[in-house]
Amino acid sequence: MTASATEIQARTLAGYATASALRQARDRDWVLDKITGEPEVLFDLGSGIGQLLDESLTRLPSLRLAVGLERSEHRIAEAGERLAAHGDRVRLVRADLTDPPELAERADVITMTSVLHWLHPDEDRIFRWIRDRLTPGGAFLLTSYHPARDEHGLGGEDEIVREALTELGVAPAAVPGLFASGGVTPIAVRTRTPGDLGTLLERFFRIESSVQRAAVVTVEEERQYEHFHAATFGDYYAGLLEPERRAEFFAAVGASGWRRQRELGRVSDMPVRLWRLTPRG
Ligand SMILES: C[S@@+](CC[C@H](N)C(=O)[O-])C[C@H]1O[C@@H](n2cnc3c(N)ncnc32)[C@H](O)[C@@H]1O
Repeated sequence: MTASATEIQARTLAGYATASALRQARDRDWVLDKITGEPEVLFDLGSGIGQLLDESLTRLPSLRLAVGLERSEHRIAEAGERLAAHGDRVRLVRADLTDPPELAERADVITMTSVLHWLHPDEDRIFRWIRDRLTPGGAFLLTSYHPARDEHGLGGEDEIVREALTELGVAPAAVPGLFASGGVTPIAVRTRTPGDLGTLLERFFRIESSVQRAAVVTVEEERQYEHFHAATFGDYYAGLLEPERRAEFFAAVGASGWRRQRELGRVSDMPVRLWRLTPRG
């Protein structure tokens, strides 16, 4: 059987430059505007295709080194092309943030945007690593999403996936059980509530500020949401279905997003929070 274009896209997490314009990329300037002083070293964790590294190296002439840590080899490759013009001011390291590597340098700024939910339930490992690698006076800038959840813990993208699975013949009441048996932790559980996350962060950091705004995703056509889902969530949910039904699944997610757009005037609307944190001694 030949894989569909969307299945291949999901496997390689391709198309993120276009997809992230709908949500994640909108946070970039918001985050970079929180950097003060003249940092020399910045680490970006879960650096994806290198967009934040690129912008920070352009904005901040004081930066002599920006290091990206990222798990996906496809994304590292794309970031390498995007960042080539910055020469030895940038370094990309393939790494799993749940088992972060030793690095020789300390950082004045560490950023982690739209990544934290993927590290659940082991966020404490990366928080400890970050605390220990910030210079005195250094800051950690973190974004986190906080969709509302139902009694099963489902919310945000889980809801759109539930609608898509229902279209494919799964009873809505069976979806939480299907997630559990397929090893899919609802994204709305992964994201934690702002209160729970704040408690966890306070073990490692002082919360200098924490501000929240709405992240609203809108699309102009069905395919655009199918593409956004594949580039952002890859096979995370699609793995719940047999391989021969995955193309159908991605199409159903696109249809679900488009139906929401027509009925509600947006696909999703959830709070995104920006934390500015400094290390506790
Ligand atoms: C939604 S993207 C965010 C990319 C970028 N930070 C941004 O704001 O656009 C999440 C990124 O985190 C990476 N990621 C997820 N889990 C990871 C892990 N355990 N270790 C390293 N990177 C991870 C993914 O490969 C992906 O590039």
